Amino acid sequence: MKVPREKQNSHLMRAMFHTIAPHYDFITRVFSYGMDGRWKRTGVERAGLPERPVVLDLASGTGDFCTLVSRHRSAAKTVAVDLTERMLRLARRRGIPHTVCADAGRLPFPDGLFDGVFIGYGLRNFPSLSLALGEIERVTRPGGLLVSLDFFLPANRLLRRLYLGYLYTQGAFWGFLLHGRPRIYTYIPDSLRSFLSIEDFSSMLRNQGYHRVQTRRFLLGGIGLHWAAKE
Ligand SMILES: C[S@@+](CC[C@H](N)C(=O)[O-])C[C@H]1O[C@@H](n2cnc3c(N)ncnc32)[C@H](O)[C@@H]1O
Repeated sequence: MKVPREKQNSHLMRAMFHTIAPHYDFITRVFSYGMDGRWKRTGVERAGLPERPVVLDLASGTGDFCTLVSRHRSAAKTVAVDLTERMLRLARRRGIPHTVCADAGRLPFPDGLFDGVFIGYGLRNFPSLSLALGEIERVTRPGGLLVSLDFFLPANRLLRRLYLGYLYTQGAFWGFLLHGRPRIYTYIPDSLRSFLSIEDFSSMLRNQGYHRVQTRRFLLGGIGLHWAAKE
C-alpha cells in the first residue's frame, strides 16, 4: 500500500524531533546567539492580547510561547500543540498543563476558539503550509491574531550565502557532538532554502484573509516575526 507523501513527511518529522527533543532548547539558544527569548517576547508583547486570552502555541516544542504568554497575561488559557509527544512531555515538565498531540493540518478544535495562535519556527516544517494556514485561520476568532517567528533567507545574496554556511556549519558541529550525526540539524537550512521570503509570506497571509500584517526583521533578515489579524 502506498503511504501518502504528507503522512511520510509527518512520520519523518516526528522521528527527527523525537531524537533532538532533549537538546532542543539548548540548540535554539545556540543558533540564535541567545536572542530567541527576546524575539519571542517581542512577538507576545506587541500582539495586543486581551486580558484573558485563549491562546494556541502551535508546533510548540517545549512550549516557549505558552510560558511567555502566561507571564504577560496571568489569566491566559494556553494550549501547546505538537506532532511530537516527547516535546510535549518536556512542556508538561515545565509546568504547561494543557498539551495536545496533533498535526497542524488537522487541528482538533472548534472554529473561532482562539484569540491568538503563536508559531515558533513551525511553518517551514509543515508538509502543506496552505493546509496549516487554513486550519489556523479556522480556529482563530474574527479579529484574533496569528504571530509567527521563523527563519528566512536574507535578501542580500552574500548575506544569504554566509547565513546558510553558518547554519550548515553550526548544525554539523552540534549534530556530531550531541548525536554523532552531523546531518541531523541540517533540516534548518534545508527547509529554509525552499521556504518563502518574508514579503511572500506576508502576501500569503493577506491572500488567506488576514489584514494588518506587520513584520519585524532580526539578524539582518535571517529571522522574521509576523503579526496578522484575522478579518
Ligand atoms: C523547530 S521546533 C519549534 C519549537 C518551538 N515552537 C520553538 O519556538 O522553539 C518545530 C516543532 O514543530 C513540530 N512539528 C513539525 N511538524 C508539525 C506538524 N505537522 N504539526 C504540528 N507540529 C509539528 C515538531 O515536532 C517540533 O516540535
